[in-house]
This record gives sequence, C-alpha cells and structure tokens, in this order.
Amino acid sequence: MLPEQADIDRAVALLQAGELVAFPTETVYGLGADAANPHAVARIFAAKGRPADHPLIVHLAGAGCLERWARDIPPLAWELAEAFWPGPLTLILRRAAAVPTATTGGQDTIGVRVPAHPVALALLRAYAEAGGGVGGMCGVAAPSANRFGRISPTEARHVREELGEAVPLVLDGGRCLVGIESTIVDLSRGETQPPRLLRPGRVTPEQIAAVIGILPQTATPATSDDAPRVSGSLAAHYAPTTPLRLVAPAQLADVVDALQQAGRRCAVVCRSPLPQAVSPHALRKLPDDPRGYARALYRALRELDHSAADLIVVEDVPVTPSWAAVTDRLRRSAAGAQATGLRDG
Ligand code: TXA
Ligand code: MG
Repeated sequence: MLPEQADIDRAVALLQAGELVAFPTETVYGLGADAANPHAVARIFAAKGRPADHPLIVHLAGAGCLERWARDIPPLAWELAEAFWPGPLTLILRRAAAVPTATTGGQDTIGVRVPAHPVALALLRAYAEAGGGVGGMCGVAAPSANRFGRISPTEARHVREELGEAVPLVLDGGRCLVGIESTIVDLSRGETQPPRLLRPGRVTPEQIAAVIGILPQTATPATSDDAPRVSGSLAAHYAPTTPLRLVAPAQLADVVDALQQAGRRCAVVCRSPLPQAVSPHALRKLPDDPRGYARALYRALRELDHSAADLIVVEDVPVTPSWAAVTDRLRRSAAGAQATGLRDG
C-alpha cells in the first residue's frame, strides 16, 4: 500500500531528528538521512556496513537547491538537470563549503540527483517545507538500501530483509520501475575536461550527448587512477551470495544440462526459452529488452539467491550500447559472487 500523508510526516520527523528512513526511488530503494547532519550520515554507514570513504548521493526536491550543495556549477550541469531531472541521473560536481566531509567520503566533490519517484519527491518536498534538516540544506543522502556489496533492493520487503531493525521506517512505493541504479556523470573536472561516465544506467551516454553535444567518456581502468572512489566501480559489487556465472546464449542449454547431470543445482536467468529437456533447479525468464530486463534483474537474482541453488547461471546479454548498464551489473555480480569465496568449481 502506498504511503499516506501521515507516513510522509513521520518520515520527515525522523529525518529532521537525524534518524534513517528508507524510501523508494525510480531506480532502487534508498537509505536516507539528513545529508547535512554528520551524525545522521554516520548512521547510514553503520547500517550498511559501508566503508567511510565511499561518498553518498544527495537527493534534492529540485535543481533549485543545487547551489547549496555544489559550487562552480558548469553550464553543462544545468542543461543535464533541465533535461533529465527528476530522473535517474546523478551529477558529480565540486562540493559547496557547507557540505559535511562525512557525506562526500572526504572528497571535494558531491553527487546529487533529483529522483522521479512520486513518493521520493513527496518526501523531499515535505522535508524542505519542514525546514530541510541541519542548516536548511534540504538534502537527503541516500545510498541504495542494501548491505555493502550486496544487491540493491527494488521492493520495500527487500530493504527489510537487508537492514531489518536498523531502519525505523521503510516507505513502501511498490516495485522500482528502472530497477538498476542511476547513471553517474562526473562534471567536476573543470570545463576543459569532457564529462566522464562513472556508472552506466538508464540514461545512456547517447542521450546525454543529444543534450550537451559531447559524449561522456567511459572511465576505463587506465583513467581511473585519479577517479574518485565509487563503490559501484569496485569489481565485486551488486553480488548475490550464490556463485554466479555468465554463459553465452549458444552454450546455455548444454552448460546447464551438464552441471545438472553432475549433481549441481543450477538456477538459471535467461531471455530465450530453455529446451524442454533441460530442467534447472530454478528458472527466471526475463524480458528480452534492456529496460524490462533491468527492471526485473535484481529481484530475480535475490529470489534465486534464496533458492538453495549451488550456482546461478545467467545467459549473457548482447554487446550493444542499450545493454551496457545491464552488462555492467552482471559482470560485477559475477565478480562479487566469486569474491565471497563460494566458488562454483
Ligand atoms: O540510483 C541511485 O543512484 C540510488 C538511489 C537510491 O538514488 N543510489 C545509489 O547510491 O545507488 P549508492 O551509494 O549505492 O551508489 C552511489 C555511487 C557510489 O558508487 C558512490 O561511490 C558514487 O555514487 N558517488 C557518490 N558521490 C560521489 C562522488 N563525489 N564522486 C564519485 N562517486 C560518487
Ligand atoms: Mg549501492
């Protein structure tokens, strides 16, 4: 059931008091706290088990509050804000003096976005009307509401599963429509440097180029030495605890069949139907378009993670720009599951 005004009011009171509130955004659920209050922000890091040097994204009710959080805002940032906010795009800008170090993980830049989910917007607007926290800054810091390194929640019950009693209130806004985290673009390097894509998402580099006339550069390992710490940029991220293996479509049926024959319980995520003869331990068939797939992916991985499978086998996705954000999450899930040490070999 969608939150009522009384729930929003309670959420605002908790944020004002420096407490945590989880809330839906169009991408994934966020774990929110007053971004101008270092004690409140410390609660986020504690609840998630997140290292203190990983910066948080600050959520705003509108671009009107941007100058409280950022300085030297380039014209490109205003153009992108105009085109994509409210929506799944995070901008990295130079941080304003009033921004607590805890929120930026010690960096001199700040991530900001205006989310599009009606419940998130209702919360952010009510929060601003009620004073907007410490210093009237009106920003809610919110990382994805999962434990560090785990799959982002796309439903309210996933948040309760992840964080339990650590969060006094979870606003339920139903299933997230985008299903993967926002696109992150770094505009903090000065106007002579091209924008840099730190995390692919629903808003594509091509869409960004259509607005600003410049294609953001993808942060490659070669250029990432000087890149800010982005937890989503760690190879082992967004991971289920069950080992996850990516398999080319043409090999999928054979690989699953062979593993099942060898007594391994395989949970399968596919886009095309499996031949009848192949019977995996569990199966999720996801839509064969990148948006539908992204919307369903984390829920599917979370459910399969609970299916007592020995490994999750995922049919690999096309190597095309429209699948880039999904590919990024799948690669990290595969790396993350291995990093847990529960190798499938
Ligand atoms: O869709 C989203 O962005 C969701 C919803 C809740 O808004 N939030 C989210 O937050 O994904 P989080 O903290 O799980 O991921 C934010 C990413 C992290 O990888 C963080 O390191 C990066 O953004 N980030 C935040 N501030 C940054 C900064 N100043 N410089 C570079 N990266 C930054
Ligand atoms: Mg996250």
